[in-house]
Amino acid sequence: MCGIVAYLGNRQAYPILMNGLYRLEYRGYDSAGIALLDGGLKIYKKPGRVLDLENFISDKDHSGTIGIAHTRWATHGEPNEINAHPHASPSGLMAIIHNGIIENYASLREVLVQRGYEFHSDTDTEVVIHLIEDIKTNEKVSLEEAVRIALNQVIGAYAIVVISQKSPDKLIAARKGSPLVIGINNDEFFVASDATPIVEYTKEVVYLGDEEIAVLERGKELRIRTIKNVEKTPYVETLELNLEQLEKGGYEHFMLKEIFEQPRSIEDSMRGRLHELSGTVSLGGIIEYEQRLVSAQRIIIVACGTSWHAGLVGEYLFEDIARIPVEVEYASEFRYRSPVLCERDIIIAISQSGETADTLAAIELAKSKGALILGICNVVGSSIPRNTHAGSYTHAGPEIGVASTKAFTAQVTILALMAMMIANKKGTLTRTRYQHLIYEMSHLPEKVAKTLLLNDKIKGIAEKFYTASNFLYLGRGYNFPVALEGALKLKEISYIHAEGYPAAEMKHGPIALIDKDMPVVIIATNKELYEKVVSNIQEVKARKGVIIAIVNEGDTTIAKLADYVIEVPETEEPLNPVIATIPLQLLAYHIALLRNCDVDKPRNLAKSVTVE
Ligand code: G6P
Repeated sequence: MCGIVAYLGNRQAYPILMNGLYRLEYRGYDSAGIALLDGGLKIYKKPGRVLDLENFISDKDHSGTIGIAHTRWATHGEPNEINAHPHASPSGLMAIIHNGIIENYASLREVLVQRGYEFHSDTDTEVVIHLIEDIKTNEKVSLEEAVRIALNQVIGAYAIVVISQKSPDKLIAARKGSPLVIGINNDEFFVASDATPIVEYTKEVVYLGDEEIAVLERGKELRIRTIKNVEKTPYVETLELNLEQLEKGGYEHFMLKEIFEQPRSIEDSMRGRLHELSGTVSLGGIIEYEQRLVSAQRIIIVACGTSWHAGLVGEYLFEDIARIPVEVEYASEFRYRSPVLCERDIIIAISQSGETADTLAAIELAKSKGALILGICNVVGSSIPRNTHAGSYTHAGPEIGVASTKAFTAQVTILALMAMMIANKKGTLTRTRYQHLIYEMSHLPEKVAKTLLLNDKIKGIAEKFYTASNFLYLGRGYNFPVALEGALKLKEISYIHAEGYPAAEMKHGPIALIDKDMPVVIIATNKELYEKVVSNIQEVKARKGVIIAIVNEGDTTIAKLADYVIEVPETEEPLNPVIATIPLQLLAYHIALLRNCDVDKPRNLAKSVTVE
């Protein structure tokens, strides 16, 4: 959460920083600010979106070739101008931007207050810049040394960049827990929470490690030290990202673009991994651990949000196809329990961003207990892939809409590939079923493309229901996690209350809610439990509920019972979630649009949750 960006070079910093803020806005968008150095230090801040900041600054002096900027997702203090970053030091000669949470900020603040310092904001960040200036003044050390000494007193997570009027050719950046990337282009340095603000200027990047401090100085090479004062050689990597991937490409919203990208993103997830002709699956990133997976006694999946829903589909896949027991854990719960882990357990951490704080902490906990940890992540070079033993990237491309869409289907695709790889080695499926699943997987992209043709029909259904106050989503078996994901999409972007339930569980409570005003979305593409789902539909109809059913093409039974029917291409049951999720993404999108909601940046949410 919170996006940070900084620049030092020969060009004007303002347009680069502003552009960077727009790119990072998905990380938080309740207020924004910028500090520029051009002789004096100028700080501009505004509550609201980056656009509000840009409008505010347009007629102000924004010159300078060095600067820092921030887009906020509030943790400490409401999103107003005072709490927005950058925060200035007591003398006003230094400023800081910060992403993360300083856990001991209250005690640090108390000490500083006793020394006579005043605080203007409610933030934890202001404490850090006060501390840095206090150390700098009293110990008479360099800026980087003052930052280093200060960070040794700080407990918590941070990605910070510090600027000082007294060192006008220098930026100091540091991180622990929250991500930070440095871009290098001849005499220019860029710093950002991820590579998206950097990619159009340079492909050469250094990912800063935990407890590392970088000194970016005009005319000098990048220098890195740890907070324990150990020098590090910067490891320069080449970005694979390109600019078109970060733009809307003619779509009204990133979310819609990302929904429509799914045939390609699913294909990219399978590319070089699924071999239809030989009927094999190879996942290069985890090849070393193939045998461990095959003999796993149990798989524990840890994740948050939509990635947790993908994990639930994984539970069905691994148990059904590979015959390995699975537990799916919210990372935030797992990390604070004392989980019992055995030697043959394998942890799979799923995350689009690769930066989710709870998932990272769950990984650390499992690691400390000696477990093997595999990752399924989308963002290349992010923290989770760096902290797992091995893993598979989803290769879905950048996902910018805050509500996750193509990352989910790519995660499910990777989980299906893993399960198939194990099944092939273990012989848990009959040859015919195995081959048919391989065939169906390789035809998934075209079936997803066909499903997307339902967009207009779904828009029509959205027009009928966008004023509803509640929705119920039901599914059984593989379609139960799809129901949860459908409900989450709707509440995230349209603010309509929605619940997902296993269809049979409905009679143990939610049935009490059903009346003529309750739309019920039933995912009914099951073959195994078809009759049972039909009974669940009848139970809803008997109570005058309105049914929107997702069925396989040619289904006539449910068509007679349901009020609205969305027919999707048929596939093998384990692959249903990939196809059945798509109409639900579209339904949420159109309903949100009709309610005038900000689809790409829903209120109170952020895409990358780097705080607990
Ligand atoms: C946030 C996002 C969700 C996402 C979740 C987990 O809540 O808004 O879309 O599913 O974090 O994020 P991750 O990057 O770990 O998949």
